[in-house]
Amino acid sequence: MKRKLNVCLTPDLYNYYNNDNNITVVVDILRATTVISTAFHYGVKEIIVVSSLDEASQYLNKDNYIVAAERNAQPIEGFDYGNSPFQYMNDGVKDKTLVLTTTNGTKSIKIARDGVVITSSYVNIDAVFNYIMNSKRDVVILCAGWKGLVNMEDSIFAGNLSDKILSSSHFQTSCDSTLLVKELYRSAGSDLFTFLKPSAHRERLKHLDMEKDTRFCLKPTFTSEIVPYLLEDKLMSNII
Ligand code: MLT
Repeated sequence: MKRKLNVCLTPDLYNYYNNDNNITVVVDILRATTVISTAFHYGVKEIIVVSSLDEASQYLNKDNYIVAAERNAQPIEGFDYGNSPFQYMNDGVKDKTLVLTTTNGTKSIKIARDGVVITSSYVNIDAVFNYIMNSKRDVVILCAGWKGLVNMEDSIFAGNLSDKILSSSHFQTSCDSTLLVKELYRSAGSDLFTFLKPSAHRERLKHLDMEKDTRFCLKPTFTSEIVPYLLEDKLMSNII
């Protein structure tokens, strides 16, 4: 019996896809899941995912904690870090506990929290693919989108990962969202930075002078074998 693959284009639709046998792969390419992969790659011990700024602020000034907050793509004053992957590329994060709250990415992780949840980006896409192949579960790729809306970058990534998964003999799909994102991925080509020029979040980040982040998230300069997985409200590193 082939395993099922679905793509959920926005967290608001997640209840239609959720079942006990799923692995939920949360994707927020610009930038939360790229930040998560980068933080683990540079040695963060664990990542506590929180929904609100108030909840995050309770961890401020605790030893060996880094508290990071972003809203509308901007860092929040009074917190240690924002949501740029470049902030995590330093030895200072090693063995620290990261507390993270973002506009869409952490919300998506929390929505899926009752099942098996992992996070993916272009940093760890191959490791995530191998993890899925070695599992026995169905898969739903959950795109974080933007405030309940579909976005292009997460959809293209979902198409990339779906293309890999469906190329194996283990999976089948009857989900039009999966077929849709596969076609989008194939038409996007290899220069995603250019293809995404008119997209909402690339524009948003451009206006905030954060194009360097966009370039990195779409084409990282390193890969990671770490597949972050959710254990209660903490993301742990699962080096395969
Ligand atoms: C999000 O959570 O919506 C994004 O990661 C926002 C961002 O940091 O650009």
